Amino acid sequence: MAKLHPDLENKPRRRASSLRGREFWYKDITLIPNRLPDFERDEVDLTTNFTKRTILKTPFVSSPMDTVTEAEMAILMALMGGIGVIHYNFLTIDKQIEEVEKVKRFQAGFVFSPVVLSSKNKIRDVYNINEKYGFFSTPITEDGTLNSKLVGIVTRRDVRYRKDMDTKLKDVMTPREKLIVAKKSETVDKNDLDFATEILRSHNLDTLPIIDENEKVVALVTDSDIRKNEQFPLATKNENNQLRIFIAVESRLALAKERIGRAFDVGVDGIVIDASVVFREQIEIAKWTKQNFPKLEVVLGNIDSAEMVEKIIREASEYCDALRVGIGPGAACITQQELGTGRAQASAVWECARAVKKLEPKYGFLPIIADGGIKIPDLADIQKPGDITKALALGAQTVMMGSLLAGLDESPGEKEFNYEENRMVKKYRGMGSIEAMGKRGALRYGIEKMRIKIPEGKVIKAPYRGSGYDFLPQLIAGVKQSLQKQGFKNIKELQEEVDIRPI
Ligand code: XMP
Repeated sequence: MAKLHPDLENKPRRRASSLRGREFWYKDITLIPNRLPDFERDEVDLTTNFTKRTILKTPFVSSPMDTVTEAEMAILMALMGGIGVIHYNFLTIDKQIEEVEKVKRFQAGFVFSPVVLSSKNKIRDVYNINEKYGFFSTPITEDGTLNSKLVGIVTRRDVRYRKDMDTKLKDVMTPREKLIVAKKSETVDKNDLDFATEILRSHNLDTLPIIDENEKVVALVTDSDIRKNEQFPLATKNENNQLRIFIAVESRLALAKERIGRAFDVGVDGIVIDASVVFREQIEIAKWTKQNFPKLEVVLGNIDSAEMVEKIIREASEYCDALRVGIGPGAACITQQELGTGRAQASAVWECARAVKKLEPKYGFLPIIADGGIKIPDLADIQKPGDITKALALGAQTVMMGSLLAGLDESPGEKEFNYEENRMVKKYRGMGSIEAMGKRGALRYGIEKMRIKIPEGKVIKAPYRGSGYDFLPQLIAGVKQSLQKQGFKNIKELQEEVDIRPI
């Protein structure tokens, strides 16, 4: 059984203590190692549940914020074994859907329904596709749709040194008679990616089109996908090797319906119904989603008390696949100061996780996402893997982060030099800041129709941290190392046996 030091329990006790009966943050606690570890750091397994069905090898989630998660961040997170949640603070639904598509098209085993063009299209169109989705290889069909025969293929090699963007693709493509193709019946129908890879590699191809008996393209296999699969063994993927991705949706049923339907069509894995504090309409959205798209997973939140956990589980456990815990602990949050609402994050995670456990025998397992409060210190540019371990120790299955990731190359926005702090920074803004609420952000706070907007967030500067492909492996190693110090090989053991004390 995990032990919380009595001084941390929210019960009156006889002995005086600075923490007794008080709320506690991650900085107020420490984990006491009392085992004798006999294994190495890399033997620690961080596999966990983001939701009831979405399993991650790394317990990290990137926040649905417009200075944190768009496609580039979501791709990074999923490749590293975590997951990204794409924000909805775009001017149109189309823009958010495009980001989902970029993630889904980033890598796959078989790329079904590939983007195709006709031989009358121009090199410019291939570059446009590259800009939108990040790839070049494009099958060319008779009429430029998937409903007609394959007549050729254009890859990066065919266009890279071409200057005239108006050149027709018929003049640069490799024509059908010179193409190596694979049959659907021998690959896709048997779900045999290995066989397709063998053909691709033995002919030294960039791209292998897969065709049906009518010569229509049904899928592609590309060398870059296969290499990506090998390079990122932790990646969070679906059965077809596509990266998994969630989106945030507003807590308004009428608005969320279109967004959810559209995202489902492009393969989104689930939704996070977003609000600074959960409200009843979320349950209607969750119910509607499950009735119309049972495959989608649904996250509700935010909450921070046992009472709220119980209310949601009793009313909506069958529509809810994870709970997002944290009201106001985030680095750009001012909900606690402005509205006197919210609580210390470590207490919130502990209490909510206990409440879920209590109800588990009757309602089943429900993962907790510890959202916010993995802090960036004001000046020193250091990461805080220890806070992540503490959140997991307190009962969270995953940790959602905004500020810690906002300084990476993969977050939206440009880095800039800050003369006051004498270092490179990237802008990080709370979704409840006046600046972010100018777009759809106000929906998150339920005040989109109100003339007077009370901000619940601010704009800050996150230290620039370079590439996430360098940073995240360090953070993962840091969390593993802290579990190893405690003598725990996985998150379950940590949660069952950890000894948590006040500092
Ligand atoms: P960190 O500490 O990782 O927190 O930066 C990220 C989380 O902060 C929440 N968030 C807000 N909370 N006002 C708030 O009270 C805001 O303007 C705001 N914007 C984001 C959100 O839960 C995110 O995941």
